[in-house]
Amino acid sequence: MEHVPVMKEEVAKFLRGKGIFVDATTGTGGHTEYILEKFPDLRAICLDRDKQSLQYAMKRLEKFRPRLEFIHSDYRKLPDLNLPWKKIDAILFDMGLSSFQLSSTRGFSYQKDAPLDMRFNPDEGKPASVFLREISYSELVIIFKNFADLKRAEELAREIKGRKIESTSDLVNAVKKVYKTTKRELLSRVFQAIRIAVNRELEGIDDMIFRLLELLPDGARLIFITYHSGEDRIIKNSFREAEKRGKMKILTKKVIKPSRQEIIKNPRARSAKMRVGEK
Ligand SMILES: C[S@@+](CC[C@H](N)C(=O)[O-])C[C@H]1O[C@@H](n2cnc3c(N)ncnc32)[C@H](O)[C@@H]1O
Repeated sequence: MEHVPVMKEEVAKFLRGKGIFVDATTGTGGHTEYILEKFPDLRAICLDRDKQSLQYAMKRLEKFRPRLEFIHSDYRKLPDLNLPWKKIDAILFDMGLSSFQLSSTRGFSYQKDAPLDMRFNPDEGKPASVFLREISYSELVIIFKNFADLKRAEELAREIKGRKIESTSDLVNAVKKVYKTTKRELLSRVFQAIRIAVNRELEGIDDMIFRLLELLPDGARLIFITYHSGEDRIIKNSFREAEKRGKMKILTKKVIKPSRQEIIKNPRARSAKMRVGEK
């Protein structure tokens, strides 16, 4: 299932349209397609941690081939890559999960029975089923409290530690046993919290921002779209700190959110928040 890019017009407004656009989270290529069509002088470097998504994007973006480069990498390794840094106009981080991944059989969705894996890159780390087996009860409680703001986190952690969790249905059943409900919102939060922990999604972002600011030319922009309050807090605080140190100017004094029309058309956009900083 192709992912619908969120706030693509708002993203484009922050580009100057010359040099190189880095799509740090290419997914199925929706943002890049829109941006390369809009700015014929722009070239793009496309990253993703998920090889399958990147392969999909390569096919979709074939018509732009001479203007494109693809790199299978975690964006936190960006500062270590040998890129033409001084030509970069902007880097986009559209964080989290795509609809393409959600509709896969890799265990991201509570709506699809599948082995509980949840890794963006299946060659790294451990599947969620193994992660849940190896993690301690108290660490699991912290994950549910910090990443999902769950009430009765202790009970859910105890239930999970007390049974075999191999598949998405096993996890749904554990939630059902504790909360006596399988409400969409509750299941999304439980699945999201485990996914964030399995992929260590909140680690190293602040450090990456500061390192990128050393490499980019003046005027280059960092554009972040987040879907989780923990992610957004990291971006907000790192931007404030970078501005305080005189390394960046925050261009979005007020966070940008999708319009009502966009949310009606694409409900997955509802939790999105965009922040942009300029070196
Ligand atoms: C919301 S989707 C991006 C969708 C994309 N903008 C589009 O229009 O199709 C998020 C993407 O970020 C990728 N991702 C998540 N964490 C990553 C990381 N640390 N490094 C690189 N890619 C990552 C996921 O694999 C996923 O494809």
